[in-house]
Amino acid sequence: MTPPLPRTDFPVTERWTYLNHAGVAPLPRPAVEAMAGYAGRVAAGGSLTVEGHGARAEEVRATAAGLMGVARTDVAFVKNTTEGLGFVANGLTWRPGDRVVVPDFEFPSTLYPWLALRELGVVVDLVAPRGRGGCLPVEAFAEVMAAGPPPKVVATSWVQFGRGWRTDLAGLATVCHDAGALLCADVIQGLGVVPADLAAWGVDFAMADAHKWLLGPEGIGVLYVAADRLDLLRPLEAGWASVAHREQWDNRELIYHDDARRLEGGSHNAAGIHAMGASLDLLTGAGMEAVWGHVERLCDRACTGLAEEAGATVLSDRSPGGRSGIVTFRLDGLDAATMHRELGDQGIVCSPRGGGIRIAPHGYNTTEEIDHLVAAVGQLAGGTGGSAAGTAR
Ligand SMILES: Cc1ncc(COP(=O)(O)O)c(C=O)c1O
Repeated sequence: MTPPLPRTDFPVTERWTYLNHAGVAPLPRPAVEAMAGYAGRVAAGGSLTVEGHGARAEEVRATAAGLMGVARTDVAFVKNTTEGLGFVANGLTWRPGDRVVVPDFEFPSTLYPWLALRELGVVVDLVAPRGRGGCLPVEAFAEVMAAGPPPKVVATSWVQFGRGWRTDLAGLATVCHDAGALLCADVIQGLGVVPADLAAWGVDFAMADAHKWLLGPEGIGVLYVAADRLDLLRPLEAGWASVAHREQWDNRELIYHDDARRLEGGSHNAAGIHAMGASLDLLTGAGMEAVWGHVERLCDRACTGLAEEAGATVLSDRSPGGRSGIVTFRLDGLDAATMHRELGDQGIVCSPRGGGIRIAPHGYNTTEEIDHLVAAVGQLAGGTGGSAAGTAR
């Protein structure tokens, strides 16, 4: 099985079996070159290079929009996922008693911006995940939504960071809109590995940083705001770049851009945008369907091998609609911190998360690397006497 992303573009493969794309991605060579190229141009020309950057930023915005399945004009650059979430949570207008519904088991940044609204009198109700896979089916949201007044916002990650459950955003958007609620989706754990069609699914707001599945650097991300929701958000960082009359330095009016650029107050993270652009080009060059198909096969192989050959218990839900690029597993009798250290000693990069070890392969990983993981876990299991095997549905 030839990986859709060229391994030669990933220097990390020279040393590591790198399975940590749900953590921090290794920068591919084209991204490194794009960042260095930008730095070299600014070193040589300073302000003379600014126009070139602006043109490239618009290309990268369009590519990111294509990956999300949204219009270019509905995408703003942000510094990370958390900033995107903050722009939505704090840009909306709140009244005491307004209600937000959020999953209970979430990455802190997906939860805290909403909890912070409690000081304004906003009520935050939590949705409990179901079963061993930490599943959050649409019915689980619908039940919590129906248990109180219609919420103003339902906020969730698309793919949960711990065990990788993937929420059906299209189904959830329908339930939200029927109840008059807005859907805000943190898509960092899905975008770049699972094909996305956010506008068609009806998502109102979505955000992701580049440093995971998008294969870019940390500190540059994208925020999608559906065009008909833009006026609901008060721009939190009004500045020279957020207005329609930018570069009219003595214009004292405040007329915002009529698109998502109004959320970008000042200068771009230009080095980050150049690097992210190269990474996005790599992904779109391979095609998201090919990348996703490859990652699904690697994850399937990992689940079978870990359960049947290594005696591990797979904690992630692997049903077709709920699976993602994340697989989390554990071994009876061995804590995740020890396993993480031992696997690291075998050259395998992964994370202790979700009550076990989380792996997250991407489009350049190979079956041989998954076999390396399975063999290493099997050895660890041998040391513990092994355990009962199984895959959570
Ligand atoms: C679901 C989720 N949201 C957000 C983040 C990171 O947020 P940021 O891009 O602000 O660093 C992570 C990182 O692990 C995550 O898993």
